[in-house]
Amino acid sequence: MPGLIGPPHYSQEPSRHPCLIINAKEPFNAEPPRSALVSSYITPIDLFYKRNHGPIPLVDDIERYSVSICGLLGNPKDLFMNDIRKLPKYNVTATLQCAGNRRTAMSKVRTVKGVGWDVSAIGNAIWGGAKLADVLELVGIPKLTKSTPSGGKHVEFISVDMCKEENGGPYKASIPLIQATNPEADVLIAYEMNGEPLNRDHGYPLRVVVPGVIGARSVKWLDTIKIIAEESQGFFMQRDYKMFPPSVNWDNIVWSTRKPQMDFPVQCAICSLEDVDVVKHGKVIVSGYAVSGGGRGIERVDISVDGSKTWVEASRYQKTGVPYIADDISSDKWAWVFFQAEVDIPQITEIVAKAVDTAANVQPENVEVIWNLRGILNTSWHRVHVRVGHSNL
Ligand code: MTE
Repeated sequence: MPGLIGPPHYSQEPSRHPCLIINAKEPFNAEPPRSALVSSYITPIDLFYKRNHGPIPLVDDIERYSVSICGLLGNPKDLFMNDIRKLPKYNVTATLQCAGNRRTAMSKVRTVKGVGWDVSAIGNAIWGGAKLADVLELVGIPKLTKSTPSGGKHVEFISVDMCKEENGGPYKASIPLIQATNPEADVLIAYEMNGEPLNRDHGYPLRVVVPGVIGARSVKWLDTIKIIAEESQGFFMQRDYKMFPPSVNWDNIVWSTRKPQMDFPVQCAICSLEDVDVVKHGKVIVSGYAVSGGGRGIERVDISVDGSKTWVEASRYQKTGVPYIADDISSDKWAWVFFQAEVDIPQITEIVAKAVDTAANVQPENVEVIWNLRGILNTSWHRVHVRVGHSNL
């Protein structure tokens, strides 16, 4: 581990919000109740989902902590926190979503492998830090570079934590060099979350944030940035987080036939109601989040209260009082959009939400058609079953 002096400490786990729903204790994986998600556009740090593949490391010698930049480049360097902080600071509002969000619902169709998640393996934060494009310029790689003279085409991020999937080695992932060196892609080497220094759970002291891409590529506890010729050969790039068709099972899977998943597709979920819920009146507020990958905005969110026979359009917003305009310069392009509709419902019904992004991509109607053995990217229409009555009847 070139950047870190000595092995990481693990000591005890950080303290956490009592409301978090713990999906796995070791490694620690937890999400907030869905109702908490829609109570603020910027997700509070302690309610932000936590997704880990190993124990949470503790990097405590910050003076000696550095990130090694090496591989297929002429000018390898170790960068200390001060070197990163000296670069222009950017605040990017971006939604991070785990590819396994809504996996529990997919596993009801047929069993899938992986930690179960409801609809809250997602959160929206203001990430503060240096642009990766500026960091790479420090080591002589200009903006908008596709390939270095020595054949580097990808940027690998190697972390401090140790994962059993990597046989005790560190978590790693990569993105194409052209994305890493494109300032418009807003890839950050972040040291702040919502205006505070990153905490241990979210990658202290430095993490990568790759907006619009599944959370797995936003490597926490950064140790090394390596310029490489092919995409990272790490477990989480090659043998996980790939989307297979429903016909592929654990007996016939050939991992190399698919590319690692990068952008996430259009997604939405109702957060004001549980999957099975009882409401007091027939007038109901249906609210939740909608988001798409690759920086695409949300063009529409449709709500049905008769199980998809008829639809109404929900209102959309990012900031209260400011109308949201998809793909407008004033909108946060990497961030989710909240939706809301007040509807009248019959005594018992299914409420459905589906989002459409600015490329007119629509969520698939049923989870069956996108079932995959790793249970990733369940972006099917979100359905909740509601009854008017008293909850204790
Ligand atoms: N980085 C490291 N070093 N180790 C990890 O286990 N998990 C990844 C990513 N970065 C992970 C990591 C996954 S799968 C997701 S979804 C996000 O971190 C979650 O980030 P969060 O815990 O800050 O919400």
